Amino acid sequence: MTAYTPSAPLTTPGRNAEGLVRFPEGFLWGAATAAFQVEGASQEDGRKDSIWDAYCRVPGAVLGGDDGTVACDQYHRYRDDVRLMAEMNLATYRFSTSWSRVRPDGGAVNPKGLDYYSRLVDELLEHDILPWLTLYHWDLPQALEEKGGWANRDTAYLFQEYAVTMHEALGDRVGVWTTLNEPWCSAFLGYTGGAHAPGRRSKEDGLAAAHHLMLGHGLAVQALRERAPEANLGITLNFEVEDPKDPSNPADVDAARRLDGQFTRIFADPILTGEYPADLLQDVAGLGLEEKIHDGDLEIISSPIDSLGVNYYHGNLVASTPAERELQGSAPTSYPTQSPFPAADDAYVHPRGLPVTDMDWEIQPEGLTRLLNRLQADYTGPKGIALYVTENGCAFDDVVEADGSVDDQNRLSFYDGHLRAIKDAIDDGADVRGYFAWSLLDNFEWTWGYGKRFGVVRVDYESQERTVKASGRWYSQVARDNAVPP
Ligand code: NOJ
Repeated sequence: MTAYTPSAPLTTPGRNAEGLVRFPEGFLWGAATAAFQVEGASQEDGRKDSIWDAYCRVPGAVLGGDDGTVACDQYHRYRDDVRLMAEMNLATYRFSTSWSRVRPDGGAVNPKGLDYYSRLVDELLEHDILPWLTLYHWDLPQALEEKGGWANRDTAYLFQEYAVTMHEALGDRVGVWTTLNEPWCSAFLGYTGGAHAPGRRSKEDGLAAAHHLMLGHGLAVQALRERAPEANLGITLNFEVEDPKDPSNPADVDAARRLDGQFTRIFADPILTGEYPADLLQDVAGLGLEEKIHDGDLEIISSPIDSLGVNYYHGNLVASTPAERELQGSAPTSYPTQSPFPAADDAYVHPRGLPVTDMDWEIQPEGLTRLLNRLQADYTGPKGIALYVTENGCAFDDVVEADGSVDDQNRLSFYDGHLRAIKDAIDDGADVRGYFAWSLLDNFEWTWGYGKRFGVVRVDYESQERTVKASGRWYSQVARDNAVPP
């Protein structure tokens, strides 16, 4: 078990604040998306509802009533999108496959769904772009939700079957497999906070979902390892860096510890060390988690992996009393939600006065340096697991010039700062081997619908036209030169 050690908030620029910054040879540059956020074609070729299709239909659940019916239409435009990636010098594309396209009811296989991913993978390979495949980015088949969803242990075993289906179809061409993206969001925004599909508001269900997601991850790793011992297998977790507002106040330190336990260590410890943190088990005692842990589960969950995907957007300044102005949560809609944390009613996030993105997330690149160093020291380094930043990026309200261009200097400098922060961690010894901008395209930002734009490429949702933003042109240069320019 890894103990939580608070460190004082640092807001100074990192060491690589200026000048040219060269990355290690072979560093992998890419961009990421997810099936539900970009594909569209939600009723085509045998695909059936996922929990997100159903959730989008709940009045008030998603801003503006937006949904994934068309999204960026990548299902029909993948060839153009892959060509664009090649023009942007991207070496890898992180995408997810949709369980509800491939096994629409969670059961029988839909060959047309598999065929789409086979064509997408071929197209990537023809353009020398490494397919980085994520099996689950939040879109559980609705039919499985009706049987209890991730709160039902059976879902973990069905996930393993789905992983095998994908491997049988693509294993000859895909060598990198991520099991889950951000299981914290699936479990706790989805089953406890109600702010994501399926919109449940139960502490017990969130904890059960977290355990079963990890079980599904471990079962999938075992099945894939057996079939492809050489494959690069991993999981992507989302991380925040929790700093106590007043490090000399034990109540603030404890609030930060709780959030760290219920956000980071609840997944990182079982997966990477084979144990739940003792303090977390104490915090959530009485909410049914321990009853869900069967003998042998933790061995499955901690099956060896090769890489850890790190998604980082911001840190948190945490106190034991409410802030005058709370930072925005994740559900700006009229749908009723509650705290996603099962046992952190006395932990509050305070603004620390840093500039914010359009999500109201504070821009804090040095948090990424500290995070990567912590992961290297506490989790991945001792096991020789490589780190990849599988998501990092920002939403801004882009301005389209008269000629259609987008001069998003704010996004460009966000990337500049975070890439320099990663290089600082590499210089400290963190084994970071690649970076994926979130996102390649503006896309469906979950509860926020299409209003929040994260792309380095703009999408005009009327015409589906793509326009590379200034940040995207800058990033293409970084990818080409393997260096951040001065
Ligand atoms: C993480 C998620 O994986 C992705 O789907 C989402 O769009 C970004 N964060 C931005 O919120």
